Amino acid sequence: LQDDRVFYNGQPIGIVVADTLEHARAAVPLVRTSYATTHAELDMATGPKAPPENVHPTGDEPRATTRGDIDAGLRDAAVRVDHTYTTPFETHNPMEPHNTVAVWEGSKLTLYDSTQGVFGVRSTVARTFSMQPEDVRVLSPFTGGGFGSKGGAWSHVMLAAMAARQTGRPVKLVLTRRQMFGPVGGRPRTVQHVTLGATSDGQLTAIRHTSTSNSSMLEDWLEPSALQTRMLYTSPNAVTDHAIVRLNVGSPTFMRAPGESTGTYALESAMDELAVALDMDPVALRLRNYAEHDPQSGKPWSSKSLRECYQIATERFGWSKRNPMPRSMRDGRMLVGWGMATATYPARTLASSTSATILPDGNAWVRAGTQEIGCGTYTIMTQIAADALGLPPERVRFELGDTDMPPAPVSAGSMTAASAGTSVYKSALAARQKVIRMAIADAQSPLHGASEADVRVENGRMSLASSPSRGETYSALITRNGGTPIEARVDSTPGPEQKEYSMHSFGAILTEVHVDPDVGEIRVPRIVTAHAVGRVLNSRTLQSQIIGGVVWGIGMALLEETLIDPHMGRYVNSDLAEYQVPVNADIGTIDATLVDEHDAYVNPIGVKGGGEIGITGAAASLANAVYHATGKRVRDLPITLDKILG
Ligand code: MOS
Repeated sequence: LQDDRVFYNGQPIGIVVADTLEHARAAVPLVRTSYATTHAELDMATGPKAPPENVHPTGDEPRATTRGDIDAGLRDAAVRVDHTYTTPFETHNPMEPHNTVAVWEGSKLTLYDSTQGVFGVRSTVARTFSMQPEDVRVLSPFTGGGFGSKGGAWSHVMLAAMAARQTGRPVKLVLTRRQMFGPVGGRPRTVQHVTLGATSDGQLTAIRHTSTSNSSMLEDWLEPSALQTRMLYTSPNAVTDHAIVRLNVGSPTFMRAPGESTGTYALESAMDELAVALDMDPVALRLRNYAEHDPQSGKPWSSKSLRECYQIATERFGWSKRNPMPRSMRDGRMLVGWGMATATYPARTLASSTSATILPDGNAWVRAGTQEIGCGTYTIMTQIAADALGLPPERVRFELGDTDMPPAPVSAGSMTAASAGTSVYKSALAARQKVIRMAIADAQSPLHGASEADVRVENGRMSLASSPSRGETYSALITRNGGTPIEARVDSTPGPEQKEYSMHSFGAILTEVHVDPDVGEIRVPRIVTAHAVGRVLNSRTLQSQIIGGVVWGIGMALLEETLIDPHMGRYVNSDLAEYQVPVNADIGTIDATLVDEHDAYVNPIGVKGGGEIGITGAAASLANAVYHATGKRVRDLPITLDKILG
């Protein structure tokens, strides 16, 4: 390929193509390879560090922040906690593996790709092959899970396109489960050092959070685990920083709540340790340090309903019955532990485009180049468009996942509902307005000469609010005027509010664990959550996202770890038999409340997005419950039996 160096075990060194999968597989062992062995850097403690200027979170957050005087804050503290928390390599395991079909027609390339971002794949492929973006078309009508691993175009996409060009035939390339450990991302290891100082009544005087994560020898990708620590609690003195260690492993990438999932484990564990040290209720400690505005930027929140989240979740859980003493609560012979943590995730809205067309039959056709990665995007976009157009949802056809459509952002960062939702909403309103203006201008329309503000649309029929019998359908009007579909395209860009307000979602997650005192087995009979993520477009799809995130949090806390042989860097457990994820039998009751929240600033539809916040705080809540049950503080995920008994 590019050169003859191999940077990690599992790195693609070639591709075998044949007319059947069996032929291709049979040919693989015929390829002769020889390697010269070199030293592999696999240790976080001794691996080379990336230069600080290469270390930056995605977006415009800086690598490091300082406010106040951290040394003075620690000196003034009556109580301090100071610990290191570590999280392991993890690997996304979407049920649908990464796969691409590449088809060349002359100089034009079409890719059918399982991706979270058709436009991102197009621009990366065009750059790699020195093509114009217009000559690459990417389609992805459904993606069978991505969770960040399908956020970009990995090497298999390029290999499929290269092979198709070489053979002059379409090529289909599907990664095996084993091939998904290494070449297509994963969550890096983190080593996080958190220091907290507080007065004896629980007011934070100092917060310090420094995080080191690994990247690869190929790129400096950062897991930004200290970002939430800048804004979650009020403290006059706070320091955050990030570093990267380069290891001989596959490049890590975004994995559900990249940064916040691992970062809240460290911060919210440390907050629990502080509550213990202060002999203070952990919810009371968080309320004592509640940030009424963003403590780092000084900006007001666009909205924040965290108090309500704490209140609803603690009530539904029955938190007031908690005996704070570790090992004090039992169910039969099982030790019972109750723990809690705060959840948070940024609310992002990016530029997005949509076209909405009202057809002569009165149905609508709405298109945006967003993606359906399993969150319910088809459903909610149809709902938004139908609502704005005054049509029942079954009369709206919403299409996505094609670079021939108006561009929308990558489906990541919990921003699809907010971003594509906004352009869908605006384009539907614009199409409706066009048709209404056409009716007002049409001498043959019952609405001729009416005031625009007086016209409403219900079930595809425009009528006057002041005189409901005066009206006609979209279909009647468009048909009478020659039957040309009425199209409105909107390129929506985020407003100035994005810079004026600090925009985040918040929640609370409370966990009950039962721990077997003899063998250390941990069960999770129930979790209670309350999240406020702006307007709820569809409680069923949103609740499903939250529950999915919480389930993954249980996996992160108890099961997940990609094991890498420390000498050769081989991925040891690269299949679903050995890479453990929760199954139904691991999951008890998850009581997920969506707190109704009005946000006038975040975007015109008031949506913050709920794809990722569910996993944030989850591992800490569980670890804190394990401490309460057993008196054992586990600062190294996953919390396996040996760490309980050891
Ligand atoms: Mo998500 S990890 O931002 O795809």
